[in-house]
Amino acid sequence: MCVCGSGTLPDFNRRSEFSSGAKQTARRKHMPTKMTQRSCYCACSVFFLLLLPDVGCHVTAGSANACEKTSFVFLRQELPVRLANIMKEIDFLPDKLLGTPSLRLLTSWYSQSLLELIDFLEKDPDDKDVLKNFTQTLVNIRNRHNNVVPTMAQGVVEYKEAFGVDPVTNQNVQYFLDRFYMSRISTRMLMNQHTLIFDGSVNPAHPKHIGSIDPTCDVVEVIKDAYETSKMLCEQYYLTSPDMKITEVNSKIPGQPIQIVYVPSHLYHMLFELFKNAMRATVEMHETSTTLPLIKVRVSLGTEDLTIKMSDRGGGVPLRKIERLFSYMYSTAPSPVRVDNGRNAPLAGFGYGLPISRLYAKYFQGDLQLYSMEGYGTSAVIYLKALSSESVERLPVFNKSALRHYQSTTEADDWCMPSKDPKKLGRYETSG
Ligand SMILES: Nc1ncnc2c1ncn2[C@@H]1O[C@H](COP(=O)(O)OP(=O)(O)OP(=O)(O)O)[C@@H](O)[C@H]1O
Ligand SMILES: [Mg+2]
Repeated sequence: MCVCGSGTLPDFNRRSEFSSGAKQTARRKHMPTKMTQRSCYCACSVFFLLLLPDVGCHVTAGSANACEKTSFVFLRQELPVRLANIMKEIDFLPDKLLGTPSLRLLTSWYSQSLLELIDFLEKDPDDKDVLKNFTQTLVNIRNRHNNVVPTMAQGVVEYKEAFGVDPVTNQNVQYFLDRFYMSRISTRMLMNQHTLIFDGSVNPAHPKHIGSIDPTCDVVEVIKDAYETSKMLCEQYYLTSPDMKITEVNSKIPGQPIQIVYVPSHLYHMLFELFKNAMRATVEMHETSTTLPLIKVRVSLGTEDLTIKMSDRGGGVPLRKIERLFSYMYSTAPSPVRVDNGRNAPLAGFGYGLPISRLYAKYFQGDLQLYSMEGYGTSAVIYLKALSSESVERLPVFNKSALRHYQSTTEADDWCMPSKDPKKLGRYETSG
């Protein structure tokens, strides 16, 4: 299925921090125009990604490397298009953010990877060496981009420290980062599928997985796994941790375990982040108690949705702050010290746990929402599509509508805002 934006890119006019300039044009000149002038994506369903090797076999049956060839022909076109489109959006970030050392490094990774990929456009798909080199190139690109999230986050921290945060920049950076990280999730998904499927080996721990997809992903197993890792971290930090209770409701096949076609690592990521938050809030709220309230998880499978609700009694968050919890610029946690050992990962880091988890949920048309009762606790709900045919990639498209977001300027609010200080209208109040 193709998701098309406008065929040609519009004339760019950036305003305020996001306004155009000579530097902008110069930067664009370095981008291969062939790719940037195409904004037509091929959004894949999880089912398509699952069948990618078979599709190839059907198309060119008889050839030993037919599947790999088809995947190669698809990816050498699709990956550069996705990279080039998001690079166009990077161009619209404020110059001061683009000028940070972190962003300079990050943009150099993108340029290099794009150039390496377009090198394959003219290569012969029937040449086995070309296929081998392509797989190796994907591995190199994936490794090069391993630290994109902390590097981008560091750039945002540097920018914030130097220039502060204003509502327009916050709104534009939020819009951009949601799209940027979503694009990254999608390109990594495609690269992982190709490299895992065509490296010639079977994952001994998960022989039924097709690349990174589990056709019978046992949701409760993933929940238990994420809980155990988070519990270990929590005990390292606080020397205690709350217990968990899971309730499973399979309305499709009552009594049977809940299974879906999904990427277990994505589901694990979301659950792990939610458990860390729930545990931290629970332990800190009940510091003086001898017992900790349970974290309750309810999983339910319907005809359309698979829903996971995680409820804690960690004191909750006021409604006014809920939206901010998903903001990349208003993180409450102090910047974490870089740790490469996953076991010592901090319980709270850049404050990207919720926004990135929501992107994972949205990637295959799901969602992640928080419902909180301040003074009591929070429920985080993950919605996923129950049917694999509906789990289609959600991709950012760079077109005129996207461009308008980067051009927004500060405008007067069209709703009355309560003044910060109560007005002195009391009858008996003395003036002065
Ligand atoms: N269940 C919860 N109960 C209370 N507060 C919560 C809960 N979940 C999230 N929060 C608040 O939302 C903030 C943002 O959460 P988020 O997971 O995005 O970042 P973080 O936990 O601060 O850092 P990290 O990047 O390591 O996840 C938290 O710092 C916390 O203040
Ligand atoms: Mg967190």
